[in-house]
Amino acid sequence: MKFSGLTRRQALESCISRGLLLSGAALSQTKLFAAWQAAEAAAQKPTAREVLGPFYKKGAPNVKQLRPAGDPGFPLTVAGKVVNTKGQLVEGVKIDIWHSDHHGRYDLVGFKYRSQLTADEKGLYTVETILPGHYDDRPAQHIHYLISAPGHKTLVTQAYFATDPFFEGDPDKKFAKRNIVHNRELVRPVSLYEGPGAPRAAITFDICMETA
Ligand SMILES: [Fe+2]
Repeated sequence: MKFSGLTRRQALESCISRGLLLSGAALSQTKLFAAWQAAEAAAQKPTAREVLGPFYKKGAPNVKQLRPAGDPGFPLTVAGKVVNTKGQLVEGVKIDIWHSDHHGRYDLVGFKYRSQLTADEKGLYTVETILPGHYDDRPAQHIHYLISAPGHKTLVTQAYFATDPFFEGDPDKKFAKRNIVHNRELVRPVSLYEGPGAPRAAITFDICMETA
């Protein structure tokens, strides 16, 4: 039987009407639709991949405060949730995160602005840091990620900032400029708000892993 030209819902309806879909629990058509819709709602697209870059370094400590006292930079909170493409929480996830300092320099000696985070029981992670600087080779502000978990494909990606002057105020049209950013979804909206003592920025970067 061919379903070309049909949406997944139309194909499912066709199967049900022809009695081609069987359920072990003898679900009614209504319940079968509800179960299918719940699975569709939970299913998610995997996070887009990006290059690892030359500055990854193994062995980062698990720290949530990345900014050393007195280091310059605009305060930034990065938070997100880790799930897989089935919408399930991911057990044992490790989130390597690293970025340049305010001047666009990576710490290649120590672990400044580097951490290997874990997610909490709700799949959430958060880190306090600064907005990365720009550097000549990749002049869009970015945070690198390497995410691994048992039973899942390792994910290498990067988060970018919609407020970055690199995007000239229009990330929808300018995100692909100079072939640095390959996916618009990785350019995150930035919330700016009054913090205690100084303005702060925040982004959400949710992660969706593929099962292995
Ligand atoms: Fe980089």
